[in-house]
This record gives sequence, C-alpha cells and structure tokens, in this order.
Amino acid sequence: MNTGGLLAALVPLVDDLSRDLPEGERYRRLLQAMRAVLPCDAAALLQLEGEWLLPLAVDGLSTDTLGRRFRVEDHPRFKALLTADGPLRFPPDCDLPDPYDGLVDGPPEALEVHDCMGCVLTVGERPWGLVTLDALDPERFATVDLPSVQAFASLAAATVTVADRIHALASRVEDERQRAEVYRVAAGQQPPRDLIGNSSANQRLLQDIAVVADSDLTVLITGETGVGKELVAQAIHAASRRGTQPLISINCAALPEALVESELFGHVRGAFSGAIGDRRGKFELADGGTLFLDEVGELSLPVQAKLLRVLQNGQLQRLGSDREHRVNVRVIAATHRDLASDVQEGRFRADVFHRLSVFPVHVAPLRDRQRDVLMLAGFFLEENRVRLGLSGLRLTADAQAALLSYAWPGNVRELEHLLSRSVLKALARQGRRPRILSLSETDIDLPRTGPAFGLDDDAADVDADADADALSRPPIVDPAVGLRAAVDDYERRMILDALARHGHNWASAARALGLDRANLNRLAKRLGIK
Ligand SMILES: Nc1ncnc2c1ncn2[C@@H]1O[C@H](COP(=O)(O)OP(=O)(O)OP(=O)(O)O)[C@@H](O)[C@H]1O
Ligand SMILES: [Mg+2]
Repeated sequence: MNTGGLLAALVPLVDDLSRDLPEGERYRRLLQAMRAVLPCDAAALLQLEGEWLLPLAVDGLSTDTLGRRFRVEDHPRFKALLTADGPLRFPPDCDLPDPYDGLVDGPPEALEVHDCMGCVLTVGERPWGLVTLDALDPERFATVDLPSVQAFASLAAATVTVADRIHALASRVEDERQRAEVYRVAAGQQPPRDLIGNSSANQRLLQDIAVVADSDLTVLITGETGVGKELVAQAIHAASRRGTQPLISINCAALPEALVESELFGHVRGAFSGAIGDRRGKFELADGGTLFLDEVGELSLPVQAKLLRVLQNGQLQRLGSDREHRVNVRVIAATHRDLASDVQEGRFRADVFHRLSVFPVHVAPLRDRQRDVLMLAGFFLEENRVRLGLSGLRLTADAQAALLSYAWPGNVRELEHLLSRSVLKALARQGRRPRILSLSETDIDLPRTGPAFGLDDDAADVDADADADALSRPPIVDPAVGLRAAVDDYERRMILDALARHGHNWASAARALGLDRANLNRLAKRLGIK
C-alpha cells in the first residue's frame, strides 16, 4: 500500500479525535478506515480488563461477538499479540486456534480464519487492548507492511484515550449534577410536619427523638405500617447537627435485588451490563448528612454483609471497583418487621442488627395512643378544609366515637386516607357545597368493634400514669361481634390496605405483611378476598 493511501485514510480519523462523537461511532469509523486500507475480512477493537479481552467494536464479525468475553489465558494468539512489541502476523500454517473461527461474516463453507494479524494498543505505557485483522484467505496479509498497521494502532490508541477522557468528563459532569441535586433537595427540604399527639406514647417518642438526634448514633425505628416511621426519621435528622445537610432516603423494599447494591454503594462503568457510566450510590450522596434506610429488613443477606462494612468503618466500594471510598454518614433505618426474630430465623444478620439498633425507637400503633386519634383527625381535617376551601369541617359525636373505637390496623396513614375519602363522600352526598361540613358516623363508615377508649374519658387524663396500663390493654372487643370475627375483620383490612398500597400486587403485599405468598393466598381465600 502506498503512503498516500494510508494518509488519506488516517487524516479524517485524526480529525475525528477532536470531534464530539459517541464512543461507539468513534471506534466504528476507525475500524472501517482500517478495513478500507488494509485488505481484510474482519477487524476488531478489544479492550483489556484484567484477564479478559472485551470487544468494543467489530467490523465484519458476527454481531454476537460484541457480547463475548475472551479470557487471555485461553487464547494463545491474543496472549502473543499482547506481549509482542508491535504488529504481529501469524504464519498461515500456525496451528494455534483462532478466537474468531466461525465468527467472520462470510459463506458458511469458509468460516475458518486463515490469515491473522494484530497489534497491541499502548496507552500510558501499559497495554490497553488490541486491534486485530483477519482474512479467510491464507496469503491476504503477505504484502501488508507492518508500519502501516502500527500507524493505525497508534491512532487507535489515541482514539481510545480521547474516548476515555470524554467519558471521564461526562461522568464528572453527571456526578456534579447529582451533587447539585442533593443540595437543591437539602436547601428546599421542608421542615418535617410536627408529630401530632398528646398521649404518653407520643411524648415518650418525642423524648427519644430529642435525646438521640444530637448524637451521631445509628437509630433503628420500628413499628407497624403507617405509624409514622418515616416522619420520625425526618424529625431526627432535622433536629440533628446534620439538619442542614441532605437527608437521603432509600426504600430497600421497592428496588429489585439486582439494583439495591448499586443504589446503595454506586458502581463503576461496566460493573454490569447497563452500567454505562460511573455512578455514586446513596451512601456517597448522603456524605456529611443522613441516610435513611427504609424497610431495611428487606435487604438480602449478601447486601447486609456489604452494609456491615460501611457501618463498621465508613468504608465502601462502588460495585466493580477496587477503590475504597470513605463516607461520613449517619444512618437511620426503619422496619415494620421484628428483626430480632428474623435474626433468630437466619433471615437477618445478627451483627448488622446490632449495629443498626444502637438506639432503637419504637413507634406505637395508633390504637395504643388513646385520644391522639382525635388530634390527628383534627390535623388532617384542617388540611382537607383548606384544600377544599370549606369554612368548617367537623366530626359529629358519633363519628368521633367511631374513630376512637376502631383498631386502626393501617395506623395514621389509614386515618389520613379514611378522612380524605369521607370528606369527598360527604360532599357528594350533600349535593351542594355547604359552608360547614359535618362528617357523621355514616360518612366515616367504620366497622364498630366496641369502644377502645370512650368519649366520656376525661381528655386531660390521657397523659396520666394510669396510661401505662391502658397501653398494654388490647382494644376491647364487642362481645356481640366476637373475637374471631373481629380478628377476621382486622386481617381483612390489613390485607386490603397492603394490596391497595402495592398496586394490587400480591407478592409485594405479602412481603409488606411479612407473610409467605402462599400463606397470604390461603388467608385471603378464607377471608373471602380472593
Ligand atoms: N404523629 C403524626 N403526626 C402527623 N402526621 C403523622 C404522624 N404520624 C404519621 N403521620 C402521617 O401519616 C402518614 C404515614 O406516615 P409514615 O409514612 O411516616 O409511616 P411509616 O411508618 O413509614 O409507614 P410504612 O411502614 O407503611 O412505610 C404520613 O403522611 C405521615 O406524615
Ligand atoms: Mg415508611
């Protein structure tokens, strides 16, 4: 080949180096130019990653080659190319197996590669990868002059360096974007809503929050669904010294197993298929602030093991990286599960449990908070009143009694939703828009299970010491209804609530209820839900 031809092929490629091209396109153009100048049936660019060669671009090879991984150890030709000083052509009678046999696009009777050459790409004095050229005809490369292959290899090295640099810049920009987002969130962080309630349970909770907020201790918040665990986490963060730093949350139950790890710890490019760039995990995003691990009981055992390392010494590794990152993060975790019994049954690591529950905070179920139900109802009614532009929104006495006697399996969230729903139903029933809307027992439409805490209780005595007793007392069941029926009703509501909250996905509902899927099915059938 003449020098003019080589130059004509190289010049546009040199131009490409300074242009903003997608990585794949950059490599493809390089291989095409190489094929135009050097007569071959196939060309490939491979990157060396540890002991593996990964094809980044191929031209003339079947597309599935891009998905293959070649272990250098298993392919003596690749090994020879990587250790050679420059371009290397294998003699046509060389009996080392060719990695591309059967992969070259061509007539099915001629799939064996007969002539093969290649050159190592050196970046920063280290082998970065290979370019390879193959032909089905054994004498094709006999006349190729090795210096022009070397010229292509140098250009290929420059191309990959540029691509790497552009990539590094792009992921730095993405990193900065994520950080900016975190600070935007932190700046706009609304102070959390007050924890409404006067009950002794609520006062103990507020005290716990005040005590632990100022420390940097790890907190484990437990309690049934809807009791306000997330609100408690927000309150602890807001009252802590980290209050002006970001509070980053992750719901461990909402993510598929395959993503949890990368969400928590981040990943580097190529860590798994689809990891196209480096990404910080939530731990790094929360650096200096607080990380809220919601539904921590749902983490798999392998992820728990990684979590343990961060909890122990603040060190973490992004997925696919061997670099250690140090983070300064305060962890608050929450779960509706009984983690101690999960530990007993081998579903949760004892060491992680002990690290997490340095300071346990239990949020009592709503039915154990006496007249807080009415205070909370007042709070939510006021929100609805403002939203709907009503002058007044109140509960009739029988509606109040109904709220007090109900067992609230869905806790505060159930109360919040019930009231919003009741207000809309009551408005619809009225036909015209009243100035003051009264919600009756009928509007609220709760099953009566007998008074848990009567309206005639003295409102002032809810904080008295006698409460301790009341707390451990289960709601009184109407003997006319019977215990079995009351329990059935309770279970039915819990299941319906879980289904509603998980988009009627039975598997997720079962997980949320801490039930085996098959057991939930059986229970649902018995209760007539299915
Ligand atoms: N004491 C409270 N005062 C005011 N609002 C509350 C209180 N407790 C809970 N809420 C409200 O009730 C709703 C449910 O609370 P939250 O999401 O914190 O519960 P949770 O325990 O995290 O539930 P889950 O286990 O289902 O995730 C939220 O809208 C929250 O703001
Ligand atoms: Mg929650």
